[in-house]
Amino acid sequence: MGGRAGFFEVEILDWKTKKQLCFLDKVESNATIREIRLMFHKLYPQWYPARQSIRLDPKGKSLRDEEILQHLPVGTTATLYFKDLGPQIGWTMVFLIEYTGPLFIYFLFYFRMPFVYGLDERFTSSPHPVVNLACICHSFHYIKRLIETIFVHRFSHGTMPLRNIVKNCLYYWGFAAWLAYYINHPLYTPPSYGKKQINFAVIMFLLCEAGNFSIHVALSDLRRDGSRTRKIPYPTKNPFTWLFFFVSCPNYTYEWGCSPCFASFR
Ligand SMILES: NC(=O)c1ccc[n+]([C@@H]2O[C@H](COP(=O)([O-])OP(=O)(O)OC[C@H]3O[C@@H](n4cnc5c(N)ncnc54)[C@H](OP(=O)(O)O)[C@@H]3O)[C@@H](O)[C@H]2O)c1
Repeated sequence: MGGRAGFFEVEILDWKTKKQLCFLDKVESNATIREIRLMFHKLYPQWYPARQSIRLDPKGKSLRDEEILQHLPVGTTATLYFKDLGPQIGWTMVFLIEYTGPLFIYFLFYFRMPFVYGLDERFTSSPHPVVNLACICHSFHYIKRLIETIFVHRFSHGTMPLRNIVKNCLYYWGFAAWLAYYINHPLYTPPSYGKKQINFAVIMFLLCEAGNFSIHVALSDLRRDGSRTRKIPYPTKNPFTWLFFFVSCPNYTYEWGCSPCFASFR
């Protein structure tokens, strides 16, 4: 036993009750937290690794997968605490669910489904071309996000607690419905400054979308080597990335820029 022999004993206690959940004998001193999670999973199949928060302190931060047992401030018998994070859902799936909702919810209003604006207005269409343009922009925005989720983003976290999905979806889906309700309303009137306002908004919208996409690609390129760390991003030859001179997450600057452009259609 003990670090001297290259082995540790690891006991894992429940973070709340402090009840011992398992005792692992002869764990190699260079074992990682990932390996300890897997050993724990073998004993408790219902708690798969992504569900486990393994900590040194019952109320402290979770240890990272790559941390090594012998580098932790523990004795030859390491005491770790376990918290169940609840059922998990993969990040890609989270984004796909969040973004597919608005895409389809918008169409319920655009096509004026019977229960939306009353039976008299069902399946009618707006006489204003800008309403069609708004639908194209909204759909483009979410299709772009779906494509980025599948082909561009390299996430650092594998999963998120399943219960958070309800909160996230309420925001995205609810906001899409609110927006779509007014733009597609039979009493909708086009923007006060007419074509000039619409053209300006479309140009700004496309620039912001291109900027947002460029930043996502640049951030993804930082993880080409398969790492999951958050490196410092630097501007590239693409002028859209020059905002990296000022902030490290200009994707949100561009994202913010898209909103007033879209609001100009109202
Ligand atoms: N999430 C939201 O609440 C929200 C709200 C409004 C709009 N959006 C839209 O959705 C997009 C994505 O959202 P997000 O919250 O994931 O944005 P984010 O935190 O800026 O991250 C975008 C992607 O880049 C990665 N990343 C961030 N910083 C990095 C760095 N320094 N080095 C390497 N990779 C890095 C992220 O991975 P990790 O985060 O996994 O490390 C993620 O895959 C936003 O840009 C925006 O267009 C999201």
